[in-house]
Amino acid sequence: MLPIGIAKFKDRFRAETKDPAKRTFMTNILYLTSSPNGSQSYSNRVAERLLDELRGNHPDASIKHRDLARDLLPHIDEDFVHATRDPAGPRTQRQRDLLARSDALVDELLAADFVVIATGMINFSIPSTLKAWIDQVARAGRTFSYSESAPRGLATGKQVALIVARGGIYSGDMAPMDFQVPYLQKVLAFMGMTDLHLFEVEGTAYGVETAEKAVEAAVGKIARRCAEAAAA
Ligand SMILES: Cc1cc2nc3c(=O)[nH]c(=O)nc-3n(C[C@H](O)[C@H](O)[C@H](O)COP(=O)(O)O)c2cc1C
Repeated sequence: MLPIGIAKFKDRFRAETKDPAKRTFMTNILYLTSSPNGSQSYSNRVAERLLDELRGNHPDASIKHRDLARDLLPHIDEDFVHATRDPAGPRTQRQRDLLARSDALVDELLAADFVVIATGMINFSIPSTLKAWIDQVARAGRTFSYSESAPRGLATGKQVALIVARGGIYSGDMAPMDFQVPYLQKVLAFMGMTDLHLFEVEGTAYGVETAEKAVEAAVGKIARRCAEAAAA
């Protein structure tokens, strides 16, 4: 795994900005939050610290923040399936609108060099708001394709930082109950995003002291990764 983001960005930035007038590359960060806990969210808090680091190292970066818990995406339905999978394409205005929204979300993802996903564990998995985003962007022909041998991810060339908070602790005996991190790792890899950096905030339900220690550990890990990358 590469050091987090910065080194890769820096190399590309340098390569393309020798003459600032001809600058063509700017880092694009897609920042997704999905906690239903708003300002009390640990995953949001840790993600903000990562964003601070990224902003500090890339003042020119464009950051698109989508709070999936506030601006809800709809669940997919029959019209969505027709709009996105029917070889004849969308047939009604509603289907055209659904396709346009999904296309816009895919475009936003494909344009990103770095994706930050902050999420809490809900009922052993991810919030349905984040699942709704995945259902919008996991599109055959856009973010993955089927070949004769195996499916191929098309959303490649990105780094992803996953910031996951959970009330319990899943690094031990509870690991088989974790359908949050393994699911995200698998579905993102399926779409071509294999360069993942994981920051866990575990045991947030075990009291403030445990939660704060977990936040501190995750923030420390972020600072170390970003410092390594900046020095690379
Ligand atoms: C509806 C709901 C369901 C939850 N389910 C689980 C769970 O299955 N396992 C767990 O460890 N924590 C569970 N939690 C606790 C959250 O994972 C924990 O509060 C975490 O810190 C949430 O992330 P956030 O702080 O970013 O909001 C649940 C919390 C809520 C509100």
